[in-house]
Amino acid sequence: MKSPLKILTIFGTRPEAIKMFPLVHALDADERFDSRVCVSGQHRGMLDQVLDIAGIRPHHDLDLMQPDQTLDALTANLLTGIGKVLDAEQPDWVVVQGDTATAMSGALAAYYRKIPVAHVEAGLRSGNIHHPWPEEVNRKIIGSMAALHFAPTETAAAALRLENVDPATVHVTGNTVIDALHWITAQIEQRPALAADLAPLEARFAGKRIIGVTSHRRENFGGGMEGIADAIRQLAARGDVAMIFPVHLNPNVRKVMNEQLAGLENVALIEPLDYPHFARLIDISTLMLTDSGGVQEEAPALGKPVLVMRETTERPEGVEAGTALLVGTDAVRIVAEVNRLLDDADAYDAMARAHNPFGDGLTSARILDLLAR
Ligand code: UD1
Ligand code: UDP
Repeated sequence: MKSPLKILTIFGTRPEAIKMFPLVHALDADERFDSRVCVSGQHRGMLDQVLDIAGIRPHHDLDLMQPDQTLDALTANLLTGIGKVLDAEQPDWVVVQGDTATAMSGALAAYYRKIPVAHVEAGLRSGNIHHPWPEEVNRKIIGSMAALHFAPTETAAAALRLENVDPATVHVTGNTVIDALHWITAQIEQRPALAADLAPLEARFAGKRIIGVTSHRRENFGGGMEGIADAIRQLAARGDVAMIFPVHLNPNVRKVMNEQLAGLENVALIEPLDYPHFARLIDISTLMLTDSGGVQEEAPALGKPVLVMRETTERPEGVEAGTALLVGTDAVRIVAEVNRLLDDADAYDAMARAHNPFGDGLTSARILDLLAR
């Protein structure tokens, strides 16, 4: 029998952990692979929430988060920290996901050692290097080095081919986020207590329609965040809606939101939810208001309209299908679009269709077969 392929998965933020845990579960269960996990700790609290739920104990934890970290210091620490792990582990393949500083640095450190890189969620492009910032450039850098590109959709695969990436290395696999969503839904079905802690808020807001809110994009810091907060304040005055807003741990987000929104009767500013509770939040929400990448994929899959507080998206599939709408960060526009959905049942019904272009829940299995080949 062939000796197993040594695969080192590298991740460090909440969304990467959510989209990588199904792959780690699958690698751990498959004799074709020797699975090793390195986390950077780029996020500390929000990463650990996911590791706990998914039951993953990393072999390496660089623990390098600093309060309000700068991109250059973070990247420098990532590159040297991951380099040492690669020298110790000498994996056959490195697998990174998405577009964070951890993913970009992990790919670069592997490339410097001529270790082949596989990129999960490859080929997302907004076409604008400032939106999302710095993620658009991070994923282009990874794309230029990867030996295997796992594109979630045909649109993403086409974007890579347009950049002259060898088509033989590009595979449409779906997005592992749908694997993660299926797994967590099954877990909650077996153990409803996993997602039961929103009950007091559900009781407080009984009879009101709930809007789930998230926001963290760096390009929205400053004016964009102010606009988002302003919109939430205006919507809260309606009286018939309530907003549940788990606030990202980035201090640039928390400062604005706490200053602008604390104490409003129809707004619950809460700590980041673990994944089962966030899935529950989407479930009880009439619509999602977000600048997140992952939530743009999850909300349509769960049949919830998603209003995207960004100017562009690298996930056009939801917009094209009519289940997602770009609303920017101008308060007037956000309020108008939310009001339209709340007050016009036809407009709401047109968006509230389950739509799932991002995968069928079998993405990890496909990726494993491609790696084994
Ligand atoms: C990062 C990613 C972004 C991704 C986002 C998901 C980069 C450059 N940015 O942005 O692509 O969409 O994560 O959420 O890779 N913090 C905590 N605890 C945590 C997490 C963050 O305290 O668990 C605080 C720290 O002060 C930290 C700051 O948030 O310095 C910023 O974290 P960082 O990972 O640098 O950037 P994000 O804006 O979270
Ligand atoms: N999420 C979560 N708890 C929260 C907010 C979000 O578990 O309080 C999950 C959400 O389900 C999605 C992911 O975090 O899978 C999105 O992460 P984030 O918005 O931080 O990053 P992005 O996807 O924009 O890179």
